[in-house]
Amino acid sequence: MFDDVAPKYDVVNDVLSMGQTRRWRKVVVEAMDVKPGQRVLDLAAGTGTSSEPYADAGIDVIACDFSLGMLKVGKRRRPDIDFIAGDATRLPFADNTFDASTISFGLRNVNEPKKALAEMLRVTKPGGKLVIAEFSQPVVPLWRTMYTEYLMRALPAIAVKVSSNPDAYVYLAESIRAWPDQDHLAVWLKEAGWDNVSYRNLSGGIVAVHRAAKAGAEAGPSAAAAALAAHTGPVAKLRRNIARPAR
Ligand SMILES: C[S@@+](CC[C@H](N)C(=O)[O-])C[C@H]1O[C@@H](n2cnc3c(N)ncnc32)[C@H](O)[C@@H]1O
Repeated sequence: MFDDVAPKYDVVNDVLSMGQTRRWRKVVVEAMDVKPGQRVLDLAAGTGTSSEPYADAGIDVIACDFSLGMLKVGKRRRPDIDFIAGDATRLPFADNTFDASTISFGLRNVNEPKKALAEMLRVTKPGGKLVIAEFSQPVVPLWRTMYTEYLMRALPAIAVKVSSNPDAYVYLAESIRAWPDQDHLAVWLKEAGWDNVSYRNLSGGIVAVHRAAKAGAEAGPSAAAAALAAHTGPVAKLRRNIARPAR
């Protein structure tokens, strides 16, 4: 699916979010608070839009994703960034490699999101941090109703006009609705072995930015191993029910 949408992915994002993605991305970068000389994993990096601010700041960022279509578009646009093909549930990196790990609008798409959380813990250095940006649940009921209407009715209709693969945006809307809310995701992070878990709502909760840290060497690896118990998330089940659209 992401191979199909790759060429117009960033433009469509800007249109459907009415430019909000740029603001959300800035908050993620601020929360990461990384410095030149540090090494960052941007997981499910897609076309590398979420990786660019780190590269621009002289930070050693690895953009990892399993869609070769997305990676190719990214590499063409930013040949200076290291794009690496890899599965979030079996990361091709050694333990304790990165000073910080991040995933923007990607965790919801991973088949086994809890495994990805455990893998990010494994490859992050003790004391390192994690920042996740993901769609979430608006907290005020009226805002939630309006947003749900937009998501389920307006967004797919706009996608028909602007995307080469409108069905992917039906999946987007449905996957957002099936995804756990802010508090639930915070519990997943703790279960995966992450410490100091907190989150901040953006746009009234349309997006939540979760932050966490990896404890010292004695706490990290054992918790990660426990969290590697197989899990299949709600979005994975939804995805299996969506037929691949005709080209
Ligand atoms: C919505 S895009 C996000 C791209 C980018 N992070 C951004 O902020 O624009 C989600 C990405 O997750 C990737 N993805 C989904 N499951 C994955 C997995 N198991 N391993 C690696 N990448 C995965 C997809 O290929 C896609 O590029």
